[in-house]
Amino acid sequence: MDRYVVIGNPVAHSLSPRIHALFASQLGDSLEYGTLLAPREGFAQSARAFFDTGGRGANVTLPFKVEALQFASKASERARLAGAANFLASRSGAIEADNTDGAGLVADLVRNLRIPISGGRVLIIGAGGAARGVIAPLLAERPARLVIANRSEGKARELASRFAALGPVEAAPLDAIPEDRFDIVVNATSTSVHGEALRLPRHVLSAHGLAYDMAYGESATAFLAHARAGGMRASDGLGMLVEQAAESFELWRGRRPDTSPVLAELRIRTA
Ligand code: ATR
Repeated sequence: MDRYVVIGNPVAHSLSPRIHALFASQLGDSLEYGTLLAPREGFAQSARAFFDTGGRGANVTLPFKVEALQFASKASERARLAGAANFLASRSGAIEADNTDGAGLVADLVRNLRIPISGGRVLIIGAGGAARGVIAPLLAERPARLVIANRSEGKARELASRFAALGPVEAAPLDAIPEDRFDIVVNATSTSVHGEALRLPRHVLSAHGLAYDMAYGESATAFLAHARAGGMRASDGLGMLVEQAAESFELWRGRRPDTSPVLAELRIRTA
């Protein structure tokens, strides 16, 4: 049976094995999908051992997404632009890298939440790996404006100049986020995962649009709670997780699963 894993550290609580098992059973496909805990300094060795023993593909999660790109012998353009890979596949003896995170976010926003990005105003908070992975796919949807706001403004500027050729992207420090009617405000900082405070000007979370936290968990993050209190629609990142998994599944298996029953089932379990 074809073998797949999600490689991370920690990885035991990953929902990916469950998501891929649901996809496989929906499509009558049979595959094995497990977790692979790699030591912090041992990503390449663990990945090599997995592929050398016949592993077909891997998803890669924190903290190894940058190393995963370096590990591969080939990479898609979106993985190179993201500077990181969450997807590896063994094909004709070569390891190919891709990044399906941005496609996952776009699919969740546009298809599941029905928020068009085209012509819209988008604010991304954060300029680390999570932000960088989604900027090119967001710009490909042709928003009217995309602002990257970060605590360290220099990192936001670096990202804005890196992606400047792809669309109307600009940088701002957190305390001087432009006052605009943002349609989508994405929290791509690590604050929700670490339970840290994210200080934002009052106007940011009292807009008319959708607040989206890339993190997900059993309870709403402080970011989403503030956004709801400010009258915004709010969504966690569970849909992005399921959509990036569907994109991975299709790249490996050639068929795209229907994500809505899988997302509904996970919502029941994480409620
Ligand atoms: P990831 O890969 O999850 O993006 P990262 O590369 O370490 O992780 O980036 C973390 C992001 O969260 C950065 O944008 C960071 O801001 P700085 O560049 O200024 O460090 C942001 N971040 C982390 N803690 C934060 C906090 N307490 N307030 C605001 N931003 C924070």
